[in-house]
Amino acid sequence: MSNTVLTERKEAALPLSLSKVQKIYRTGPRKKGGVEAVKSMDLDIRPGELITLLGPSGCGKTTTLRMIAGLETITSGEILIGGVRVNDLPPAKRNVGVGFESYALYPPLSVRENLAYGLKARKVNDAMQQVDELARRLDMTDMLEERPAALSSGQKQRVSLARALIRKPPVLLLDEPLGHLDAAQRQRVRRELKLLQREFGYTTIVVTHDQSEAMTLSDRMAVMDAGIIQQFGTPDEIFDDPANLFVADFVGEPAINLLDGTVVRDGDKVLVNVAGGVLETSVISAKDGQKVTVGVRPQDAFLAPGVKGTVFVYEDLMEYGLVRLDVHGTDKRVVVQTVAGAKLRSGDISEFNVSSHRVYLFDPEDGARIR
Ligand SMILES: Nc1ncnc2c1ncn2[C@@H]1O[C@H](COP(=O)(O)OP(=O)(O)OP(=O)(O)O)[C@@H](O)[C@H]1O
Ligand SMILES: [Mg+2]
Repeated sequence: MSNTVLTERKEAALPLSLSKVQKIYRTGPRKKGGVEAVKSMDLDIRPGELITLLGPSGCGKTTTLRMIAGLETITSGEILIGGVRVNDLPPAKRNVGVGFESYALYPPLSVRENLAYGLKARKVNDAMQQVDELARRLDMTDMLEERPAALSSGQKQRVSLARALIRKPPVLLLDEPLGHLDAAQRQRVRRELKLLQREFGYTTIVVTHDQSEAMTLSDRMAVMDAGIIQQFGTPDEIFDDPANLFVADFVGEPAINLLDGTVVRDGDKVLVNVAGGVLETSVISAKDGQKVTVGVRPQDAFLAPGVKGTVFVYEDLMEYGLVRLDVHGTDKRVVVQTVAGAKLRSGDISEFNVSSHRVYLFDPEDGARIR
């Protein structure tokens, strides 16, 4: 796929950096007060890197993207694209291409004309071949002669995505680009998006609230909450070494199990009492008697003496099994991933344990990781 019409003229990718970027939406009378949607954000993205902004609704993802694109003013801080400060540049001068959900297609033009529009304006002579090739890649050849009004929301979304991709901007910004697609299409377009991004090599930010999407797409991901980047790292770093309780809980499927515990120091060993059971942990800074929130990922837990519970249900998912265990002495239900065919029944008494280095401890007050 390296010598296609789509990728043969590749512009150099650009780095993108945000330094102490803040956004306050002024909503009060006489422009006082307001909503601080983004708080002192720092972010350094390498040329050609694909990062995702992942976080719950209202955490400031779209605001961040709009500030980078120049569609929203920046309250304070600085944005650099290719080393150039773009704070005061209009969108068209920033070297960015955007695919926002609300990004309108031209209604009187066919999908083909919508896609070719930007290329023709720049006098690209193989515009139609490029449109055909990209349409093939994104499985939308059969929509090319339609007008936007005749398309479903999922089809429109693919056209918006294709239009952003075909312009090959040095920096590409996509806000929930796959949100309206059905599950099968989502997977296919996601894979193709990643391949195209690699081939074109543009620096890309994808906004999503879907952690599995972020995990599969990202070179690195920025997990956001309440206008703040909680952690920026590779998917493995985020999963294995979460910075705090929010990140640990937001990333991972099934979600991490969280239980109340009390630390007991026993000679060289650090133990955590959890609901009458005991787990050993390698968190050596934990203090005797300290109250903690204990995190155990379902993938790390296994059935062995440790913490007792009653099987609520066992699901066999072919490649592995999931046991939902009602932990004795608490109102908590934990999930333990087992080998397939574990043959447990509802009502069975069982126990789970976890390797000491896979026990996460958090401060129950502020969610800070105890290391
Ligand atoms: N034009 C605006 N005026 C005032 N407040 C706004 C405006 N746009 C966004 N906000 C507020 O800023 C915060 C961040 O909004 P933003 O749209 O960036 O979140 P988001 O992470 O994209 O959420 P979602 O996942 O729901 O799209 C929210 O509290 C929102 O209500
Ligand atoms: Mg949004």
